Amino acid sequence: MAVAPICRHHEKNEQTIIAMTQDEMKQAVAQAACDYVAAHLPAGAILGVGTGSTANYFIDAIATLKDRIGGTVASSEATRQRLEGHGIRVLDLNDVGQMAIYVDGADEIDGSLAMIKGGGGALTREKIVAAVADIFVCICDDTKRVKTLGRFPLPVEVIPMARAHVARQLKQLGGTPKLREGFVTDNGNLILDVHGLHIKQPTTLESQIDGIAGVVSNGLFARRGADVLLLATPSTVEVMKR
Ligand code: 5RP
Repeated sequence: MAVAPICRHHEKNEQTIIAMTQDEMKQAVAQAACDYVAAHLPAGAILGVGTGSTANYFIDAIATLKDRIGGTVASSEATRQRLEGHGIRVLDLNDVGQMAIYVDGADEIDGSLAMIKGGGGALTREKIVAAVADIFVCICDDTKRVKTLGRFPLPVEVIPMARAHVARQLKQLGGTPKLREGFVTDNGNLILDVHGLHIKQPTTLESQIDGIAGVVSNGLFARRGADVLLLATPSTVEVMKR
């Protein structure tokens, strides 16, 4: 599917170069995701909504669809507020038996559609909502596409009393954890951002980190990766499926 991008045309040496800024790519992919939802979400079905600047553009775009969406589930308080600001119905996940589609951004995504998420600190709720969804649609721009995950520091949500213990364990796994200063998650916990990881086996590392006492969840979304990737490039939006 080729999605008409929001773009700027620069005339140079008689060639037309079409280029979008990163922010324009986020808007283009958000509109593509809105079109995807319009085409694939059954009328009255439930939509999960992610967190972050790309997800915010998506929320603004789906305001036009609010009468045919049965309800949404928000992956953060910020997302809940933005959805409600548009008059879009937000449900408690505990009241939802089935969710057709979850749409969210990512900080990094690899060729198998495994991701690092949590740059906005919403990783735990994002992972829970994604676990319920039938289809995970990742929306991002091509600056997020990587061969090997790990250039972006891996966020790990920890119970406050376990911070030092978890940090020691993460060092043993080869990373350099840094406390995200002045940040508390929607769940009242802390985030350790783990630098210096070169993640060759994302599913294994995801399970290893989850196994550390005091870890609530980590930002590797490999065991349950994306099913569909809508990827904005400077000239178009590409679609990839797992
Ligand atoms: C929030 C996330 C976001 O999806 C991720 O940080 C990407 O954000 P943005 O769209 O602002 O680049 O995981 O916890």
